[in-house]
Amino acid sequence: MTTFHSSKFPVLIVGGTGKTGRRVAKRLAALGLPVRIGSRQGTPAFDWENPDTWAVALEGVSAAYITYYPDLAVPGAADAVGELARLAVRKGVKRLVLLSGRGEPEAQRAEQALQASGADWTIVRASWFAENFSESFFREPILAGDLALPVQGVREPFIHADDIAEIVVAALTDTRHIGELYEVTGPRLITFAEATAEIAKATRRDIHFTPIPHDVFMQGLAADGVPDDVAALIDELFRSVLDGRNEYLTDGVQRALGRAPRDFAEFAQAGAAAGVWEQVK
Ligand SMILES: NC(=O)c1ccc[n+]([C@@H]2O[C@H](COP(=O)([O-])OP(=O)(O)OC[C@H]3O[C@@H](n4cnc5c(N)ncnc54)[C@H](OP(=O)(O)O)[C@@H]3O)[C@@H](O)[C@H]2O)c1
Repeated sequence: MTTFHSSKFPVLIVGGTGKTGRRVAKRLAALGLPVRIGSRQGTPAFDWENPDTWAVALEGVSAAYITYYPDLAVPGAADAVGELARLAVRKGVKRLVLLSGRGEPEAQRAEQALQASGADWTIVRASWFAENFSESFFREPILAGDLALPVQGVREPFIHADDIAEIVVAALTDTRHIGELYEVTGPRLITFAEATAEIAKATRRDIHFTPIPHDVFMQGLAADGVPDDVAALIDELFRSVLDGRNEYLTDGVQRALGRAPRDFAEFAQAGAAAGVWEQVK
């Protein structure tokens, strides 16, 4: 392993309390490497909406893991990622690892902006995370016993956030990952109905999946108090990314880590054992 940064200088993890960032931070800390959490709650704070916060967050760091929020599919995301990457390089922070998404034109523009920034880059271009069912917007419906989404039979190779985190840590600590674009997926294409059934089986609960039209989905989001712009973003992701364009497997995890990715069944069993789908009383 060729390490490239001194353990004296922290690694900036933008989105360091999020699904992948939290796991990257934990692993780097376990290796004895200092981390700086880049988020609105971090010290110093990092806010994608406020570019004035970016330079301070980059001060004195050795490398950065960049996750954009809310989603790289949002217009303007690529410009923001490019601006941050160029600022980092100007400040001498050349080692940059970007979390990207599959089949999203704006995400691919963000990748190009990073590649053109002069950074020593690595890109992890991921499929949908399994953790959307346990740590994000699918968790509440799963708890309620009915996940209703505007998708029919499309299959997605859900990836475990732990697999992403392991690749990011490898990329941040080993120079052989510089210039690599890892498109990563889980090992199996499954429908949302099959994913729900895996969780039902693991938790031994009745949990149904119901395909619904887009307008009914949007009405449900509005009734749950989801702001219009966020609802529109979520609906757009279902319309665009889940139209079949991503219905294929890739070998990114194998290439980066030399092993197969974790399966969704393993995710469901571990989550059930840890009680992530139990109601907090
Ligand atoms: N979820 C998926 O299935 C998936 C798949 C492929 C790619 N991606 C990509 O992964 C990225 C992250 O998505 P995610 O859904 O997994 O979210 P996430 O990483 O779980 O997002 C939460 C993190 O973002 C931070 N955050 C929120 N607003 C922020 C702001 N204005 N400025 C700075 N940090 C902010 C939060 O911290 P604070 O609240 O403290 O600010 C928290 O650390 C997106 O770019 C998405 O395109 C996601």
